[in-house]
Amino acid sequence: EDAEDKQPRPPVVTVMGHVDHGKTKLLDAIRSANVASKEAGGITQHIGAYQVAVEHDDEERRITFLDTPGHEAFTAMRARGAKATDVAILVVAADDGVMPQTIEALNHAQAADVPIVVAVNKVDKDGANPAKVMQQLTEYNLVSEEYGGDTMFVPISALKGTGIEDLLEAVLLTTDAALDLKANPDKSARGIAIEAKLDKGRGAVASVLIESGTLRQGDAIVCGTAFGRVRAMFDENGEQLDEAGPSRPVQVLGLSSVPRAGDTFLSTDDDRTARQIAEKRDAIERNAAQARGRKRISLEDFA
Ligand code: GTP
Ligand code: NA
Ligand code: MG
Repeated sequence: EDAEDKQPRPPVVTVMGHVDHGKTKLLDAIRSANVASKEAGGITQHIGAYQVAVEHDDEERRITFLDTPGHEAFTAMRARGAKATDVAILVVAADDGVMPQTIEALNHAQAADVPIVVAVNKVDKDGANPAKVMQQLTEYNLVSEEYGGDTMFVPISALKGTGIEDLLEAVLLTTDAALDLKANPDKSARGIAIEAKLDKGRGAVASVLIESGTLRQGDAIVCGTAFGRVRAMFDENGEQLDEAGPSRPVQVLGLSSVPRAGDTFLSTDDDRTARQIAEKRDAIERNAAQARGRKRISLEDFA
């Protein structure tokens, strides 16, 4: 495909950090500070990711946040060979400083070559020491610009909602400096399952992050070993969508079974192709399971 078919796409961001340092609070603060989701006026749905709009250099830019819990999802996806994250926000509580899971998280991001923005959180607290966090992290090659490095450190209070705009700005600056994120929207969709569940009324419900191409209502799809057609798709505000392009997270209805986080998602020309790909993947998995000398437990075993 030609390079000129590719268009800029929003960065996909994961929030990581030590337990209780404020990851969930930060994701909530970013989401509630965002105008786009307020304007939509819909009911907030948890679909495992959401997108925000940011005014940057007189341009409207978007950022996609994965809000599957902590870095477990990140680690699980990486173990399955999927790389859904472009940029990591490392949350460090300014009163606690660098802790074991802070180091674990930054090791994961660095191993995956994912640029890191440091959110120094809880600066509202007595005993907050942002300078100490900065100094501690130099040991892990996260050196702030003041000290000649290229890592952005942003003081925030997720509780009070301060510093959020600066943090989003830092994500975009880091993205533009370190990455060239482009994807072709004019082809069949490709992506990754970020979470999925079985819903009593709606059947298999999968949240998918579109990585390239455009997904449309009615498309034949395959996700892991599940297949079907897009019966309906929704965004994180519960709005029904006709189509979704690169970096967009969407909730998809219409799969034959529940995929797993990290499963590859594709739209295909027709139902038959989708089914064939799913069956081929299933056969490969069964063979691999047999080769490991244990039987794969599947739904059929319980039928
Ligand atoms: P786990 O998911 O359990 O790892 O925790 P987390 O990193 O998601 O932290 P969470 O957002 O649940 O916040 C932990 C606690 O810190 C909660 O009691 C929050 O209210 C509090 N907290 C988070 N951000 C701030 C902040 O900016 N200032 C203050 N004072 N408290 C905060
Ligand atoms: Na917590
Ligand atoms: Mg949390």
